[in-house]
Amino acid sequence: MTDLRTDLERLRADAAARIASAPDADALSALRHELFGRSGAVTLLLKQLGSVPPEERPELGQLANEVRRELEAAVGAREAELAGTDDDSRLAAEALDMSAPGRAIPIGHLHPVMTLISDVREIFHAYGFEVFEGPEIETDEFNFELLNIPPDHPSRDLWDTLYVAEPGSVEAGEPREASDGTILRTHTSPVQIRAMRSLEPPIRVLMPGRCFRHEAVDASHGFEFFQIEGLVVDRDTSLADLKGLLEEVARALYGRDVRTRFRPGYYPFTEPSVAFDISCLVCGGEGCPACKRTGWMTILGAGMVHPTVLRNGGFDPDEYQGYAFGMGPDRMTMLRHGIGDIRLFFSADRRFGSQFSAGH
Ligand code: PHE
Repeated sequence: MTDLRTDLERLRADAAARIASAPDADALSALRHELFGRSGAVTLLLKQLGSVPPEERPELGQLANEVRRELEAAVGAREAELAGTDDDSRLAAEALDMSAPGRAIPIGHLHPVMTLISDVREIFHAYGFEVFEGPEIETDEFNFELLNIPPDHPSRDLWDTLYVAEPGSVEAGEPREASDGTILRTHTSPVQIRAMRSLEPPIRVLMPGRCFRHEAVDASHGFEFFQIEGLVVDRDTSLADLKGLLEEVARALYGRDVRTRFRPGYYPFTEPSVAFDISCLVCGGEGCPACKRTGWMTILGAGMVHPTVLRNGGFDPDEYQGYAFGMGPDRMTMLRHGIGDIRLFFSADRRFGSQFSAGH
């Protein structure tokens, strides 16, 4: 039965050539049917194996199988090739013009006050300070009493507090009496007590956050504003440490040439208390309207933590000392950018905000 062998060899050569030159997926699919379909050429030849004399059968059987596998593989290969070509032509059809101008996607950016706060955080981080946060809704106890500001203390008048009370319970002019002692914090100092009560000494924390006062709003006063509080509690800390630290921070923030000075100050929760000034950023110290002709600008209040406050925080003032400071990032941002009105910070005016999108 050499006929079958010849037929197989011929089919092997012919079909391989036709498969390889099938022009597209449809032609290939027709060809596959023609070869492997129920009455396809390969199928028919395989059927003929039954009538081959037994002694030739093993050899021819092997050849037939080889041809079948070979052609199947060739169909598969051509199929893959054609699919590749299809992708290429699709790519060509759907080509993008990469030189066309894009449509800009507006991306937000940090508010300039947040940028300043994060710069301050970074500087203090280098001195080993970690960030600690407390609640914006506070109690009279934490905001005043534990900070050595008892209810009848005259310094309570320093802050015009926003009291929180049950709706309808407030008689005109008596919000304080109607409140259960819940207030909006007027400064970040209450976080000092929270930090002392929850951290182990030595404590070195920076406590940034939003504060609220019942202010008549004008260009330099907002009813909401930010503070950054700092607190160190350790054995053997002193006013000298506080002064050294603040001088370094001022240089990091405002440049090596900035001059600084400390003045006596007063806060019920620090003793002694100081005010910290830097040479005017507008005139460099000559005197101008921005510094009220003094040449100096006050950027923070500070002092040694009052023994009573240390005690309220859970520390024995004979063993531990501490210093604290509080700065106003809104005012510091105004100085940094020459912004004349604090109300712009909360105006949500994009013409104002978008000026700070790059860098600061
Ligand atoms: N809490 C003070 C204020 O609001 C600032 C301050 C903080 C002063 C810490 C001394 C120590 O003005």
